[in-house]
Amino acid sequence: MSSKEETCRNSLSPPLLSSSSSSSLPSVSHFIGKKEDIIKAGRVTKLVNGCRDVLVLFHQGQLHAMDMRCYHSGGALQHGDIEEFNGRQCIVCPWHKYKITLAEGEGLYQAVDDPTVKPLRTRWRSKGVKQRIHQVTEVNGDVYVTLDDSIEAIESDVYQTERYRTVLLKAQPKPKPKK
Ligand code: FES
Repeated sequence: MSSKEETCRNSLSPPLLSSSSSSSLPSVSHFIGKKEDIIKAGRVTKLVNGCRDVLVLFHQGQLHAMDMRCYHSGGALQHGDIEEFNGRQCIVCPWHKYKITLAEGEGLYQAVDDPTVKPLRTRWRSKGVKQRIHQVTEVNGDVYVTLDDSIEAIESDVYQTERYRTVLLKAQPKPKPKK
């Protein structure tokens, strides 16, 4: 990976807002938008800190933020449905239907207990954290994201590069010309 393609989190450019601006905000926070606008839209995407594409969504009274492209193959999570699996709220990637928990970024899958026993019995299992989740803070109706900057690699990091940003943008269907 070239230096241009390295993933970035909070450390590569100065914060847009420092903690001295507000006592309620984490030290490095990036303004996303007004809460009422996010609620109206349901979900918004934003390039945060000049280098990380983040999806912020509002679901069942809560704001969530995560890497925008799916850890599996870069699918556009902003177009995914939200469903409950095993009591956990998940975004379902529109590309291959992988399920990702909103709160932790875990990949969920259904495992068969014993393939020799009929009827088959399945249960939900976790693959562990696969999608990077970011912290969302609301102050007086303004919504901010603090990028998760833990050094441990998470699979969705792979799709946070200029290369994928460009490739996937080109892969988007072109809007039909207006008649
Ligand atoms: S890209 Fe998301 S499930 Fe394959």
